[in-house]
Amino acid sequence: MEIKIGFIGCGGIANAHMNALSKIEGVRFSGMCDVDENRAKTASEKFGGKVYTDYKKMLEEIEIDACYICLPPFAHQGQEELCIEKNIPFLVEKPIHLNKNKAKKIIEKIKEKNLITAVGYQDRYQDIISLIKPFFLEKNLGFLVGWWVGGMPGVYWWRKKELSGGQAIEQTTHIFDMTRYLVGEPVEVFAVKRIGLMKDVENYNIEDASGVSVYYEDGTFGVIFSGCFLKVPGKVGIDFYFKDKVIEYTERQKVKINYGNKIEEIYEKGDLLLKEDSAFIEAVKTKNQSLIKSSYEDAYKTLVFTLSANEAMEKNKVIKVKY
Ligand SMILES: NC(=O)c1ccc[n+]([C@@H]2O[C@H](COP(=O)([O-])OP(=O)(O)OC[C@H]3O[C@@H](n4cnc5c(N)ncnc54)[C@H](O)[C@@H]3O)[C@@H](O)[C@H]2O)c1
Repeated sequence: MEIKIGFIGCGGIANAHMNALSKIEGVRFSGMCDVDENRAKTASEKFGGKVYTDYKKMLEEIEIDACYICLPPFAHQGQEELCIEKNIPFLVEKPIHLNKNKAKKIIEKIKEKNLITAVGYQDRYQDIISLIKPFFLEKNLGFLVGWWVGGMPGVYWWRKKELSGGQAIEQTTHIFDMTRYLVGEPVEVFAVKRIGLMKDVENYNIEDASGVSVYYEDGTFGVIFSGCFLKVPGKVGIDFYFKDKVIEYTERQKVKINYGNKIEEIYEKGDLLLKEDSAFIEAVKTKNQSLIKSSYEDAYKTLVFTLSANEAMEKNKVIKVKY
């Protein structure tokens, strides 16, 4: 069965998805849309598909079975709504939006159409995560500490809060999302931030670093750090302190489980985007949403979690996480 795909946004992550999708039997690239025509052309030359600079024109002109929406956070301006109107299942990259109310309206429309959706939280598809997930059912986790601490990504929009939302929303969102996936829903957050450290970076207005403390619904707590000021290798992952073991999760690489009397180290193998994209394509083919580990509705909760962290940072007070 052939699945015809359109892309809205042909930048960094879009090309990674195109590479993965090109390995899946039956996938055909029908449309490549980017406001930067050169990017759409380059993608089309490599993978195929008609070139567009206007997503409305693309969705009007060609018939596709699924759409990839790979836009910077600020650029979600009706693309999801038009896909829903035209009954086109979509995979949208995280963060799904910067506006909670607009994202909530999108959920209502998705539900009306019972449309297949997926969000780019590919870490949920890791084998090492499937392996440790059952430990969380034992409910003896004391607390967790998460990190996404490194340097500043090169894309121009990342350093502007109004365009990216800041590091917690744009990047550490993978860590926030993973804690929801494994531990459960957050109920309240408090946050602190550090600014003004990066004297060498022009024109930025995001935090250099932040620390977010979280209470989860089962009484577990956690602290999640973000930092983009580092000039040396940083740390990306989560440490989980259980009553009877300590798990160190290094994102997309390995888990180290210390049981006291023995230590196990298990490494992640395989192409993670291929796992995520294969699940999405199969879900589209079979109309089976349950194959997807991060739906739009679920990813909305991670968006609200991170928006609440930002609000706590700005207001310097505890914020209830309200979906
Ligand atoms: N899941 C992951 O691991 C992962 C990794 C990287 C990026 N991302 C996410 O993917 C999204 C895109 O990031 P990126 O690194 O690919 O950015 P990018 O800047 O490399 O690419 C974005 C592309 O979108 C295009 N664009 C902007 N507005 C548009 C519009 N209205 N219509 C069509 N095209 C438009 C830009 O011209 C650009 O080519 C971000 O939300 C980011 O957080 C996810």
